[in-house]
Amino acid sequence: MNEMGAAALSPPAGTLDRDSLVEGILRLKSERAAILLAHYYQDAEIQDIADFVGDSLELAKAAQRADAKVIAFCGVRFMAEVAKILNPAADVLIPDLEAGCSLEESCPPDAFARWRASFPGAVAVTYINCSAAVKALSDVIVTSSSAERIVRQIPADKTILFAPDRHLGAYLVRVTGREMVLWPGTCIVHEQFSHKALVELKLEHPDALVAAHPECPEPILAEADHVGSTSSILRFVQESSGSEFLIATEPGIIHQMEKLAPGKRFIAVPGGSGECACNVCPYMRRNTLTNLYACLRDGAPRLELAEELRLAALKPLQRMLEMAAAPAAGRG
Ligand code: 13P
Ligand code: SF4
Repeated sequence: MNEMGAAALSPPAGTLDRDSLVEGILRLKSERAAILLAHYYQDAEIQDIADFVGDSLELAKAAQRADAKVIAFCGVRFMAEVAKILNPAADVLIPDLEAGCSLEESCPPDAFARWRASFPGAVAVTYINCSAAVKALSDVIVTSSSAERIVRQIPADKTILFAPDRHLGAYLVRVTGREMVLWPGTCIVHEQFSHKALVELKLEHPDALVAAHPECPEPILAEADHVGSTSSILRFVQESSGSEFLIATEPGIIHQMEKLAPGKRFIAVPGGSGECACNVCPYMRRNTLTNLYACLRDGAPRLELAEELRLAALKPLQRMLEMAAAPAAGRG
């Protein structure tokens, strides 16, 4: 159905209750031959109607293989951009184009280009949480689940520049033993976790295991029993014999934990003073059932990328997919 056709038959999103929104989204999804991809940091009600929920690498691969006219992407804008770069034939819709990322904002392409140029011969290894323009200036992209494996494949005589997350970068330096020059960006969500609150929670729950995302600062990671991407944390809580877990990543993922590991208890580590909701990603949570419904109804907002930029950003993303699939190099 064309955009006008779908819109004409659909009531305004603001007038619908939750059940009608869900019903409308599923109907529009089928009318538009769309696939709905969602990150673990989305609201539970969006995760529950998604065709696929995953971490950044899994979402990139799901978008690439999607045989659908339309990809409705519930995540942040850089993730939707990656979907468009890897699957240009699909229309990529995102409920809110303002769903950015503090890491992306910390790394403007012109400043990144100057930084890169000041290290001739270095390899620019860039976290996927950045704009398409920064990707286009990079040698290889990594996600939290593929970064260690990829860094270990960079020839030992090369200087590595790592942008934009300095905490993930510092974690990689610790686990691989490779020195890297770090861009000073941070995730405003993971940077907020309160070390004091975490230590207090550990005292209250002495048998609980701590799972943390590598975007957290080092003092939080030092308390963790497991550090990894969102999917890796999810696997950890499922496979572990522990029954109680302290979770130092965005709490949206706890919904999947409760579904996949019923009977276990998950406690979100608080951010800031322990009283704010600052461990909830304000960018991810811009997507709601209401604007997802409106976006499927209107066929907009739609991700647009100039073909030249798409092709330039595709190269380091393809390198990521190849290097992420290569056999793991030995731990140094
Ligand atoms: P993952 O790839 O681990 O899902 O991370 C995405 C992200 O933005 C974490 O803040
Ligand atoms: Fe960006 Fe942090 Fe939100 Fe992930 S949680 S999208 S890194 S701001």
